[in-house]
Amino acid sequence: MGEPFEDMFKESKIFSNREVLSPHYMPHNLIFRDRQIQEIAKFLTPSLRGDRGRNIFVYGKTGTGKTSCVKNVIERVRNLPVSKARISYINCRIYNSRYRVLQKIVSDYLPLYAKRGFGMVDIYEKIIGWIEEDGKVLVVALDEIDVVKDLDDLVYTLTRANSDIKSGGITILGISNNVSFKENLDPRSLSTLYENELVFPPYNSNELAQILKERVESGFRKGVVDQAAINLASALAAKDSGDARLALKILTKAGEITEEKGGEMVGPDQVGEAARFAEEDIAYELINTLPEHQKLIVYAIALLSLQGSRYKRLSDGGDTYLFSGDIYDKYVAIANSLHREPKSSRWYRKYMVDLDMQGIIVSYESGKGVRGHTKLVKLSYLPEKIKDTIEKTLAKEAEL
Ligand SMILES: Nc1ncnc2c1ncn2[C@@H]1O[C@H](COP(=O)(O)OP(=O)(O)O)[C@@H](O)[C@H]1O
Ligand SMILES: [Mg+2]
Repeated sequence: MGEPFEDMFKESKIFSNREVLSPHYMPHNLIFRDRQIQEIAKFLTPSLRGDRGRNIFVYGKTGTGKTSCVKNVIERVRNLPVSKARISYINCRIYNSRYRVLQKIVSDYLPLYAKRGFGMVDIYEKIIGWIEEDGKVLVVALDEIDVVKDLDDLVYTLTRANSDIKSGGITILGISNNVSFKENLDPRSLSTLYENELVFPPYNSNELAQILKERVESGFRKGVVDQAAINLASALAAKDSGDARLALKILTKAGEITEEKGGEMVGPDQVGEAARFAEEDIAYELINTLPEHQKLIVYAIALLSLQGSRYKRLSDGGDTYLFSGDIYDKYVAIANSLHREPKSSRWYRKYMVDLDMQGIIVSYESGKGVRGHTKLVKLSYLPEKIKDTIEKTLAKEAEL
C-alpha cells in the first residue's frame, strides 16, 4: 500500500474537473430550454412589480432540466437591484410538510425569528406581517411538490393567505417529476396549482449528445472522450427516458471505469459497461426517494421475496412471484409496527400501478386456478439490496 490519500492528489488522466460532472452542478448554459426559461421568467415578472400574478405548475420526467432552469431564473431575479419579489426555493424532499415549508420560508427571510420554534399560527402570521410591511410578493417554489404529506393543507394555507394580506401576496411555483400527479390531487388544489402549466419534454438523443458534449469539454481532459462514446451514452439515455442526469451519469461512470483500468480513452465499450451500473444506481435512488407508503410496500415485497416463494411459476425457470394480497398484509403489518396509518387497499392498488409503471415491480394477472384471479408480483431488482437501501433511509427518517 502507498501513502494514505496518495490517490486523491494524483492528477487524473481522464477528468479535468469532476465538479462539473456531479449531479449537483448547476450549468450556466441550459441549451434547448430557452422557451421554458422565458416562460418561468414571464411568470415571475408581475412579482417584481409587487403584483401577485398567477400560479404556475412545471412538470416533466426526471432529468429534463426542471430544477436547473427554475434555479437559473431564480438566481437572475435575486440579483436584480429593485424588486418586490422574494423567492423561497424549497426542496420538498427535505421540507415535506406544511409546517416545514412555512418554517423554511421564515428561515430564509426572518432568520432571527426562525430559531425560536414557534407554532404554525405564529409562523403564518409572522410571514403575513412581513409581506404586508411593504407589499412584497413571496414566490414559493416547491420542487418535487408531490412528496409533501399534507399538500392540500399547504396549498390551502398559501392561497388563503392572499385574502388575509392587504398589500402584496403569495404565488406558488410547483415542480413535479410525476407526470400523472394531477390525477391524485384534490380538485381545489388542482385548480389552484395549475393556473398555468409548463411542460418539460424528454430530451432526444441529439439533444443529449450536445448537452454531454458541453460538459465533456469542461469535465474531461482534452481528447479523452470519443464522440462514439458520447453518442452511445446519449442514445441509451434517450431510449430509456430522455434523462440528462442518466446520460451524464453513464458517461462519468465510463470515465471512472477507464481510469480504474488504467485506460486512456473513453469509448463505447466503457459506456456499455457503465450503463449497466448507472441504471442500477438510478433504480436504487428512485426507490429511496419514493413517497413513504410506496416505499413501505416495496419494503414488504423485498422482505417477502427474501422469505422465499409462495408461488413459483414453473415456466419461468423458478422465478419467484408473490401474491398481491400477501404483500398488502405484510405492508399493513410493517406500517403498524412503524406507527404509520396503513393506506386502504384501494390506495394500495393505485400505488402498485405506479410502481409497475416506474419499472420497480413486474406484475401480471394470474390465470384461473391460482386463488381465482389474482395479481402476481415480482421485484425488478435484488431484494437484498433493496432491503438494505430502504432500511438505511428508514433509520435516517426515524432520526429526524
Ligand atoms: N438543457 C440542459 N443543459 C445542460 N445541462 C442540463 C440540461 N438539462 C439538464 N441538464 C443537466 O441534467 C441534470 C438533471 O437536471 P435537473 O434540472 O436536475 O432535472 P429535473 O429537475 O427535471 O429532474 C443536471 O445535472 C443538469 O445539469
Ligand atoms: Mg428536479
